[in-house]
Amino acid sequence: APYPVLVKPVIHSTNQFLLEQIAQLEKGQLCLAEYQYAGRGRRGRDWLSPFTGQIILSAYWTFPPHISLNGLSLVIGIAIAETLQAFGAQRIGLKWPNDVLLQGRKLAGVLVEIANRKNGLLNLIIGIGINLALPKQANINQPWAELREILPHFDRDEIIIALVQRLYHYLDLFEQKGMAFFHSRWTEWDAFLNQPVSLISENSSQHGIERGIDSEGYLLLETEQGLVRFNGGEVSLRRA
Ligand code: ATP
Ligand code: BTN
Repeated sequence: APYPVLVKPVIHSTNQFLLEQIAQLEKGQLCLAEYQYAGRGRRGRDWLSPFTGQIILSAYWTFPPHISLNGLSLVIGIAIAETLQAFGAQRIGLKWPNDVLLQGRKLAGVLVEIANRKNGLLNLIIGIGINLALPKQANINQPWAELREILPHFDRDEIIIALVQRLYHYLDLFEQKGMAFFHSRWTEWDAFLNQPVSLISENSSQHGIERGIDSEGYLLLETEQGLVRFNGGEVSLRRA
């Protein structure tokens, strides 16, 4: 089905824009941009979106109110990874809970925000940023990657169309079957499976071996105290 699309050359943040328009949106509404001057990541962090090339996409989606959102960003990550793979990208992995990596460097990020709208539904703005080409000296404080490293030729619009189709299909599956349906598939993409990692929260960090996720999308960390599970909102995963 065709979905309404807003295309903005320059915008503060496509997620923020859809949040502001929430009362007028219909499910599936997309906002695309060329450049964001206030792109954002999780917990108030910045997402750099220069003019040199990115997929900057936000989508409005709804679920019935009883649906658990645990694992949703993992499912979105699978949709991104599989779409890029279908265009020939190799050496891609997922980092729990919301990053797409290329050889350990961040290629894409996912930001899901919950919106208020008195319609009795869960209202979500799903933001996706995928680096196609960044400036040589991009001001990013962790290792990053861009799609042109592995795909010399690609059509951005074709990738966007394929991504949205796959994403919306997976969002329907997530609603119908839950996170458990995607459990084994996410594990196949897990860039840190069975590797030593640190899980960092505001005032502490815990070390262990990453043992994938449980059926609800919680991260499993094998520590000296046994297997501990973590929720994506609380912690950041780092290679130990
Ligand atoms: P985690 O999600 O595991 O907590 P994170 O460091 O990836 O950790 P996020 O909030 O997901 O944090 O992403 C925001 C971070 O991504 C920024 O702080 C910056 O380091 C990095 N970043 C910003 N813009 C880009 C970009 N265009 N490409 C790659 N990385 C970026
Ligand atoms: C992250 O890794 O923390 C998430 C990055 C999400 C970036 C995308 S770009 C489109 C949408 N608009 C935003 O301001 N952020 C998301």
